[in-house]
Amino acid sequence: MLDYTLRQSGRASLDFLSAFGCVTPDLVARQNQALKKAGLADDANLADDLDERAKQVEGVLQDVPEFRAANLIAEWHSEQHARLAAEAFDQIADELKPQFEKFKTGKTTLKLDPNLDVPKYWLYPIHRTTGGWDAREGMGFIHGELIHRYVVGKAPRPPAAGSVAADIYAQRDLMTQQAPRRDYKKILEIGCSSGPYTRSLGRNFPEAEIWACDISAAQLEQAQRNGNATGQAWNLFQADGRHTGQADASFDLVTSYIILHELPKQVIADILKESFRILKPGGDLLFGDVAPYREMSKLNAWRTDYAAKFGGEPYWRESSTMDVVAVMKNIGFVDVKYEGVGPTRYPWVTYGRKPA
Ligand SMILES: C[S@@+](CC[C@H](N)C(=O)[O-])C[C@H]1O[C@@H](n2cnc3c(N)ncnc32)[C@H](O)[C@@H]1O
Repeated sequence: MLDYTLRQSGRASLDFLSAFGCVTPDLVARQNQALKKAGLADDANLADDLDERAKQVEGVLQDVPEFRAANLIAEWHSEQHARLAAEAFDQIADELKPQFEKFKTGKTTLKLDPNLDVPKYWLYPIHRTTGGWDAREGMGFIHGELIHRYVVGKAPRPPAAGSVAADIYAQRDLMTQQAPRRDYKKILEIGCSSGPYTRSLGRNFPEAEIWACDISAAQLEQAQRNGNATGQAWNLFQADGRHTGQADASFDLVTSYIILHELPKQVIADILKESFRILKPGGDLLFGDVAPYREMSKLNAWRTDYAAKFGGEPYWRESSTMDVVAVMKNIGFVDVKYEGVGPTRYPWVTYGRKPA
C-alpha cells in the first residue's frame, strides 16, 4: 500500500459518489414490485431471447419513477467516477511522486514492451472512463487505487453483504483458495491490472514464483508500486494473454480474476488455448469471474445485461453467454468445472487441468 491522504474535497467527492450509489438497491426493490404486479418477476413469463426480454421488462419499467431515478444515478456515476478520482489524484500528485520513484525499484520487476500490438477490442472506454485503462498520467493509481478502494470497494453488493464476498480484497483471497494445490512452483496471472489478486497469490503461495501480465502499462506500473510497497517479488510483464511469449509447459498454475467479462469470446478462447500451451502437464487453470446469465434468474440476467450495456462493459453479454466448458474440453483440459463458490456463488470459477 502506498502511504497517502486525500485532500478533503477529493475524499468528499469520492465518498459522495459511493454513498449516492448505495440508494440503488432500494430503488431496485421498488422496481421489482412493479414487475411483480405485471407478472414479470416470474421466469416463466419472461422471454428466453435477451433482446425480447429487455423489451418486456423495460416496457413496464419505463413508467416507473424508481427506474428512471436509478438510471440517472447510474448515468451520473458512470460519467463522473473517473473524473472525480482523477481530480482527487491531481490534488496529491506532487506528494505521491517520491513514492512513485521509490517503488520503481525493489523485488517486483516490470518489463514493458514498447512494441506491443495493442488489440482494438481493448481500446474502449472501460467503465466509461474516457481514454480507457491508459487514459492519462497516473491512471494506474486513479483506477487501481482510488476507484478500486473508494468506489468499487464501497459499492453495495446484495445479497452478499456481510459475507466475505462483499469485501473486494477478501474476494481475491477467496479466489486463491479455490486452487486445488498449495505446492505450485511457478504461477502466471493473466490480466493482473494494478495487482490486487497478484498480492493474494503472493501471500497464499509464498513459495511460488509469481508472474503476471497485462496489456496496460499504467496498471502494470501501479502493480509494481504495490508489489514493492508490500515487499513482494513479482515478475510483471506487458503482454497480451493470447501471446504471453512464455515457454511451452512452464507454469504449474495459470490464473486470472475478473478479466473474462471484459473480453470478446474469441479472445477468451485464445487465452484459454495459450494457457494450455504454457501449462506444465498436470498443471491447473483457474479463472474467476461473474456468473453466466443462464445461472441467474431471467430478471437478474436482464438487470446485469442492462447495467453492462450502459456501464461501459461491451463484452459482458457475449462472455456471459458463451459455452466455456465446451471450449475448455475442446482445447484438451480435463476435470473441467464451471461453478460458483459458496451460497453467494461468487466468484464463478472456471477450472481445468492439463492432462499429465
Ligand atoms: C478487471 S481488470 C483485472 C483485475 C485484476 N485481476 C484484479 O484482481 O483487480 C481487467 C484487466 O485485463 C486486462 N486485459 C484485457 N485484455 C487482456 C489481454 N488480452 N491480455 C492481458 N490482459 C488483458 C486489462 O488491461 C485490465 O487490466
